[in-house]
Amino acid sequence: MHPVLVLHGPNLNLLGTREIKIYGEMPLAEIDQRLRDAGVALGLEVRTAQSNQEGVLIDALHDARRWAKGVVFNPGGYTHTSVALRDAVAAIRLPVIEVHLSNVYAREEFRHVSLIAPVCAGKITGFGWRSYLLGLHALAGILSGEE
Ligand code: DQA
Repeated sequence: MHPVLVLHGPNLNLLGTREIKIYGEMPLAEIDQRLRDAGVALGLEVRTAQSNQEGVLIDALHDARRWAKGVVFNPGGYTHTSVALRDAVAAIRLPVIEVHLSNVYAREEFRHVSLIAPVCAGKITGFGWRSYLLGLHALAGILSGEE
């Protein structure tokens, strides 16, 4: 089993009550449980974390260097603003998949810009909670080393 980190950024702790039309009704704890379950079939040991603090997210990425083989990361609103998180992703030299529940390209223009995406292995956006699932599949593919 490859240990991997699923990291959720600001406001994602409110999933299930927050802008349901955009983000869906599933609470974060349920998404995390589904990802842990799905990980087993993919050969991934999924650990999850969420923070509303930029520095805590940076520390979680640094810490992942010690134990994780890759990261699925929803940076929330920091996607569009955070040079520091981009630098952290670039620094850790792990494959990172950027994911978003909503289709950021169908929303306000400021969401079309990601400072994080250029230093990620790839990006998945618009499939609700399954964006994370697709991110895990992508990571499993990378870690298997197969074509
Ligand atoms: C989000 C999209 C961001 O633009 C927004 O700030 C979020 C959630 C998503 O998962 O769709 O907080 O990352």
